[in-house]
Amino acid sequence: MQDLAIKSGSLVAPRHLAIIMDGNGRWAQMRGKQRVFGHKEGANAVRRVITASAKMGVKELTLFAFSSENWKRPKLEVSALMTLFSEYIKKEANALKENGIRTRIVGDKTKFSKSLQEQISKVEELTKDCNVMQLNIAANYGGRWDILDAFKQIITKNSQGLLNLNELNEDLVSQNLCVPSDVDLMIRTGGEKRISNFLLWQAAYAELYFSNTLWPDYDEDDLKEAFQFFSTRERRFGMTSAQVQNKDPNNAN
Ligand code: IPE
Ligand code: IPE
Ligand code: MG
Repeated sequence: MQDLAIKSGSLVAPRHLAIIMDGNGRWAQMRGKQRVFGHKEGANAVRRVITASAKMGVKELTLFAFSSENWKRPKLEVSALMTLFSEYIKKEANALKENGIRTRIVGDKTKFSKSLQEQISKVEELTKDCNVMQLNIAANYGGRWDILDAFKQIITKNSQGLLNLNELNEDLVSQNLCVPSDVDLMIRTGGEKRISNFLLWQAAYAELYFSNTLWPDYDEDDLKEAFQFFSTRERRFGMTSAQVQNKDPNNAN
């Protein structure tokens, strides 16, 4: 649907793009290196994709950096990922601001070290007035956690008299998620075809695109390929094709 997307040349860019950045470990192992080497290289792809997305007209980009389940990985890999994450935020904060990227880290942040939580608050504060693109970095994020947390917030607001449970509807659930807006296009790199507990509620009507490119190799051309796919989709949201083309949800075709 045109109103959900922004035109960039002949390509239609999704308003909200979500990416499962997968394949770092395999990228490193193929080169006979430790998995962490792939995560380091992956940080360069993050920078490339943020720049390319903003340039092509994406208004909101949600990147899956670390899942609630990734704590199960070897201790050394987890601590290397935390260090890289903290370094990345510190190093990129000024460039994000200069490029107008409003940055939020979404997920259960209570599990992070105090210093990482401080880094996170700093970049969020620094970029809060930026308006070129909204960037959500999902860290210690899980779709089920997000939905559960929304319900906990709703119950708390109800007990404080701020919300009446009779008013509970889908919009209210969305508003209480850490990423409230629906995803238009979800990309997974690295060849796997699953969504691994990412944005479960928000991806209800997302177009899904699976790329074999391993994340550290992902670049603007890969992104264009995904947007090419997105540009050819007819997003029907339950309607018939004729209804969508007439742009009249009440017609009797
Ligand atoms: C994605 O790459 C990064 C994180 C999950 C943190 P992987 O580390 O999962 O790479 P593969 O899938 O093992 O190649
Ligand atoms: C999903 O990748 C999480 C991130 C990209 C951060 P995984 O590599 O952890 O997913 P599974 O475990 O293979 O499904
Ligand atoms: Mg993986």
